[in-house]
Amino acid sequence: MAVESPRLLAFAGSLRRESFNRRLIPVLAEGARAAGAEVSLIDLRDYPLPVYDGDIEAAGMPEPVHRLQDLMSEHDGLLISTPEYNGSMPALVKNTLDWISRPTEAGPSGTTLFRGKVAGIVSASPGPLGGLRSLLVLRDALAKLGLVVVPQQIAVGLAAERLPETGLLADERMREGVHGVGAAVADLAARLRRQ
Ligand SMILES: Cc1cc2nc3c(=O)[nH]c(=O)nc-3n(C[C@H](O)[C@H](O)[C@H](O)COP(=O)(O)O)c2cc1C
Repeated sequence: MAVESPRLLAFAGSLRRESFNRRLIPVLAEGARAAGAEVSLIDLRDYPLPVYDGDIEAAGMPEPVHRLQDLMSEHDGLLISTPEYNGSMPALVKNTLDWISRPTEAGPSGTTLFRGKVAGIVSASPGPLGGLRSLLVLRDALAKLGLVVVPQQIAVGLAAERLPETGLLADERMREGVHGVGAAVADLAARLRRQ
């Protein structure tokens, strides 16, 4: 029986309309698609969430959480492009992951939604280091949730020059690197699907 293509969920960790990380996501997705994955691109603007608060959760889970949890259960992995804020990942990314990790009707812990799935991470920043430090923190957070984060990662520095428009990464070596991250996630997710 033919094994279905792995399905990956991709988003940028920035709400800004002209976000460099938003511009980078299609490049990451392109690499994954070329390696055989189906990629769903989402915009976190469409999933507005308050800062996590147990009282809000107790009063009723915000509706976007259900939609994100459903998406997570339907996909084999994540592709994330994150900014770096003060040497770490943005609150938006952590808050989104925290809400998704809350219990669902299907299981006592939302972390079961993440467990054994694959993730690939990249970052972009106008600074020279490209947000590299945010990747270290995000990698650790994803691993704690049970995702297998592929070792490949790329931090796109000097993003104002290198990412002049959506999907255009004007540096061949970096473009290949970002494609490589997407391809590695697609490959590993496909192998895990076959098991
Ligand atoms: C609160 C804050 C902290 C920041 N800290 C860093 C930082 O530590 N390192 C860095 O390279 N850029 C930092 N920046 C600049 C961001 O990289 C820049 O705003 C970038 O465009 C954000 O990503 P986006 O274009 O995807 O929205 C910071 C920006 C903000 C708003």
